[in-house]
Amino acid sequence: MRSLSFWTSLFSVVLLPGASIQAESHENDLMPFKFDSLPLGAVKPSGWLRDQIKLSAEGLGGHLFDFYRYVHRSTWLGGEYEYSELNEAAPYWFNYIVPLAWTLDDQRLKDQAKAFLDYALNTQAEDGWLGPETTRQTRGIWARSLLAFGLTQYAEADPTETDRIVTALHKFVDLAHGMLKNNFTGLIQDRSQDDNFDPWGFGVSRTHELPISLMWLYEKHPRQNSEVILETIDLMFEGGRLGNRDWTTFFVEGTFPKDTNFKSSGFTHGVNLAQGLRYPSVLHRRTKNESLIQQTHDAVNMTLQYHTSLSGTIIGDEHIGGQSPQRSSELCMAVESMFSYAYLYRYHGTNLFADRAELAAFNALPAAMSPDWWSHQYVTQTNQPWSRNLTADPYFNVATYSNTFGLEPNFPCCTVNHPQAYPKYVSSAFARRGNTGLVHVLLGPMSVETSVNGKSVKVEVTTNYPFSDTLYYKIDADMEFDFLIRIPEWTVRETAFLKIDHGRKEALRPNSEGLHRLGVKKGLAEVTVHLPMEITTVSRNETIGVYRGPILYSADIEYTETSHKPLNWTDLQPLDDTEVDPRVKDHILEPTSAWRYALDPGTLRVGELADGDNDLPNPVFSRENVPVSLQVDAYPIDWPIELDTAALPPIAPRVDKSEKVNLRLIPYAAAKLHIAQFPVARFN
Ligand SMILES: *[C@@H]1O[C@H](CO)[C@@H](O)[C@H](O)[C@H]1NC(C)=O
Ligand SMILES: *[C@@H]1O[C@H](CO)[C@@H](O)[C@H](O)[C@H]1NC(C)=O
Ligand SMILES: *[C@@H]1O[C@H](CO)[C@@H](O)[C@H](O)[C@H]1NC(C)=O
Ligand SMILES: *[C@@H]1O[C@H](CO)[C@@H](O)[C@H](O)[C@H]1NC(C)=O
Ligand SMILES: *[C@@H]1O[C@H](CO)[C@@H](O)[C@H](O)[C@H]1NC(C)=O
Ligand SMILES: *[C@@H]1O[C@H](CO)[C@@H](O)[C@H](O)[C@H]1NC(C)=O
Repeated sequence: MRSLSFWTSLFSVVLLPGASIQAESHENDLMPFKFDSLPLGAVKPSGWLRDQIKLSAEGLGGHLFDFYRYVHRSTWLGGEYEYSELNEAAPYWFNYIVPLAWTLDDQRLKDQAKAFLDYALNTQAEDGWLGPETTRQTRGIWARSLLAFGLTQYAEADPTETDRIVTALHKFVDLAHGMLKNNFTGLIQDRSQDDNFDPWGFGVSRTHELPISLMWLYEKHPRQNSEVILETIDLMFEGGRLGNRDWTTFFVEGTFPKDTNFKSSGFTHGVNLAQGLRYPSVLHRRTKNESLIQQTHDAVNMTLQYHTSLSGTIIGDEHIGGQSPQRSSELCMAVESMFSYAYLYRYHGTNLFADRAELAAFNALPAAMSPDWWSHQYVTQTNQPWSRNLTADPYFNVATYSNTFGLEPNFPCCTVNHPQAYPKYVSSAFARRGNTGLVHVLLGPMSVETSVNGKSVKVEVTTNYPFSDTLYYKIDADMEFDFLIRIPEWTVRETAFLKIDHGRKEALRPNSEGLHRLGVKKGLAEVTVHLPMEITTVSRNETIGVYRGPILYSADIEYTETSHKPLNWTDLQPLDDTEVDPRVKDHILEPTSAWRYALDPGTLRVGELADGDNDLPNPVFSRENVPVSLQVDAYPIDWPIELDTAALPPIAPRVDKSEKVNLRLIPYAAAKLHIAQFPVARFN
């Protein structure tokens, strides 16, 4: 078998120079990605993106390990605290602390990661189990999927730990393989055995997550264990099917809910859905069933069409909420959408997917964070005139104070999951294509140091994108290579251009994957890419959202903020001072300026525009520091309150021309109170 595939690959390399991806696929039972990821740490953020990630490190993200009971005193570290039977808090934390630490190259955070790594590996059970559980009833596989995400990233970032991590993973896979073969122990609960590791069926809704890491193990460190790894992948999917959580049965026209009139299930849970978007593609890597490609596109299309907010995240609180700007989006949905869309772009090369990752990254994600990253919302509404206890409850099943900014304004999953979003955005921002190409996939200020075909390449991207429309690349390469820059779909092709070494303007010619290819010579090169941003609107149910490039705009609502000690999410009592860092507070935002307006979209225009080449203020997502604003003619209207929040936007309300005001619009994520789905004014 081995020698046959050796000859096959040699043969294809001889016949088809540059077709190495195809060659690899002959000796690989997994379908390859179109673009290969770079090891964690190869890409480093700069500019506003680094500022945001540093704020996360200096805020909740970098301090949960020191004080937060679900991390600091997690059962994974010998403590007693878990927020659910899933025992997932510390593994969620680990999955983010690793990319946060290596993306910033921050020793304090690396030490945190290392402490957890040592504890987790040194306490691996004789039989291979990783984690604190010792009984069949409590040993659920799910949290191990998160642990494995953290471990695989660690193994790439720090080669001195790779061997140890890979050994531990193999030992665990052997055990998991046996458990799954034994009636899916650890995945599907058996009541007759009093299993209680997953009473709500989260693990069984997320059976593709462990396979993502198992595929990494199979491809990078198989150690003569390939068959067992592949069978474990297959068993995970098989268990999902048996547990009625095969997503290929859900992403089907006629089954996928088009409104809020559905029976809730694991499929309609918004975070599961954000993760489930990658299910058909992960499965495709293994089965190569072509219909899964179309199904990925259908899954994304239906999710966008029926349950996605203007800010780029799923609407679900926690179950999907249609297109209602009154309903809300759990922070984890933005985080998981970003991860899914980045994964999907790398696998399929469909430009829309990368655009969707950027949209969530620039809007939905930062909107849910306080400017200093010391608090977050559990859920965010597109139209959110205040952030407080909505006692009349507009949500499906989240706590009524979920849109306040706090430590744990509801379920603590978002507290321990949100910091992965930007570090993973950075680490998947560049990718390799075959042996000859380097691709800039997700745009923003950053730099990369890597190799292409064994020779070193450095690329530095200086830009204020998406607040500015120009990206400056400095390239230093030890050989010729293909440099591919992704051009977002919203780019106005007619006026977009690129310049090499201050030469003349060249038109952008993106290929079917949205990539403009540059043949870069050995040595130094400079490239300027200009992606002009126009103001655009998107209509929904006769109301509109306003964008400039990938940024969604909101009415600029002034507010007062009151803060109090963080509440315990279960009993709503203030947490004891010994439980929290003194910098942690819960915050209530009340508007002090008007928010009920209808817009005249024909009058939209740019207001302030920061000089694209100067450093942006930090934090960039706050009302005080807006780099780009828009202006529009707006008219006061009646807009009722319903369920303690803004009712659905009135459709084409009649306005009085004499009441015209000049309304300032600012980035949605900077406006912590926002109206972003606007009524359109009618004048007669
Ligand atoms: C296998 O697990 C199911 C629950 O998923 C249970 O009903 C069944 O009895 C188990 N079968 C065996 C042989 O243990
Ligand atoms: C391929 O996947 C589709 C659903 O995505 C399924 O209906 C079909 O049976 C699968 N084909 C094979 C050969 O497994
Ligand atoms: C989904 O697909 C349909 C049919 O191809 C298309 O008309 C629609 O615009 C797509 N929706 C989105 C949100 O992409
Ligand atoms: C929110 O309001 C409800 C109903 O008045 C009340 O039961 C609950 O305690 C309040 N929650 C908080 C966090 O104040
Ligand atoms: C459209 O707006 C009307 C009026 O506000 C509302 O009744 C209806 O539910 C909305 N439909 C959707 C799909 O949002
Ligand atoms: C939070 O409240 C629960 C009661 O629902 C209680 O058991 C727990 O001890 C409280 N946690 C802390 C840290 O106060």
